[in-house]
Amino acid sequence: METETRAVDRAVAAVSEVPYRGENGRAVRQTTPAEVIARHLRLFDVRPGMRVLEVGTGSGYSAALLSELVGPSGEVVSVDVEASLVERARDVHRRTGRHNITSVTGDGFAGHTPAAPFDRVVGWTTPPLLPRAWLEQTRPGGVVLAPVPCAPMLYSTVMLRTLVADDHTPVDASAHRGQYVPMRTAAVPSAGLIEASRPREGGGEFYLSAPWLRGRGGELAEEVFSRLLAAPHSEPFDEKWPEVEHLKTWLMAGGVEHLSVAGIGRETAIGITTPDSVGLAVLFPETRFLADSGRSPALAQLHALIRRWREAARPRVEDLVPRFEEAAEGWRLRLAPPA
Ligand SMILES: C[S@@+](CC[C@H](N)C(=O)[O-])C[C@H]1O[C@@H](n2cnc3c(N)ncnc32)[C@H](O)[C@@H]1O
Repeated sequence: METETRAVDRAVAAVSEVPYRGENGRAVRQTTPAEVIARHLRLFDVRPGMRVLEVGTGSGYSAALLSELVGPSGEVVSVDVEASLVERARDVHRRTGRHNITSVTGDGFAGHTPAAPFDRVVGWTTPPLLPRAWLEQTRPGGVVLAPVPCAPMLYSTVMLRTLVADDHTPVDASAHRGQYVPMRTAAVPSAGLIEASRPREGGGEFYLSAPWLRGRGGELAEEVFSRLLAAPHSEPFDEKWPEVEHLKTWLMAGGVEHLSVAGIGRETAIGITTPDSVGLAVLFPETRFLADSGRSPALAQLHALIRRWREAARPRVEDLVPRFEEAAEGWRLRLAPPA
């Protein structure tokens, strides 16, 4: 790990973001902060001479870091669905003298068969599940790093690191903090994770992503919704980032009935919503609690869950145990709380 950290730090120091992102990061719409990319590259164990596939070219910056890590004897293949981004990144790589990167336009859910096999595959955009193609195109013993949902609800992405077994199945997997934009792919039907939504006066949206409400009809959703919108009770919540991300993922791993993610205009919350009570922990951009009343049973349940998380020594995303459900296109990830 120590060598990996040093190699990634050296790559970050060697690559200027400016030609990729432009002054003030304004050149491309889609960007991931350099420190997030570096944190994830530290999990990736990329060494000189390797062949790496990345899905989600964006500005081209992450490919430049990978290009440093694999060195002149290695190769990076970078795929994006947006042709204009691919052309732009190709041009910047040429101007900055990076000749070990091949830029390709396409749906990266399918990997890139013509250049397979790879030693490493990384996604910088979130597919609906861990794509089978990524593991099939990785050599046994190689590593796949992929942001994938860990629950059938919005905002449940974790960065999954998995070794690839001899039969190209995931093995020795671990989960880490991470959120990337959803992948645009027609390869898997989109899951439709929002049960109710309404535009919000003055911009933004109210929505509810709640597996327990799925297929139960609009009336129930409307009832939850009017309680959510009425929400007169607010109280302070003293957890901050990144702790709340660990808490959020632990809640999602717990199989809690009535667990829901809510968008409240510009705020994102997780908590309990039932037809007759609402208790939410607002996580973003500031932390606080929100409920339909100070005596809300849902709020009491949420407080009890958070107490349990604290008593269990505040399990982190990395402590949760990956479990896979196999599907035709790949593997759905579920996380279990630590034993
Ligand atoms: C967060 S950005 C990537 C940032 C990039 N790694 C960088 O260093 O700037 C996500 C990218 O994934 C791309 N993307 C979305 N769906 C895709 C798909 N199905 N295949 C390949 N790329 C996709 C988007 O066009 C976007 O450029």
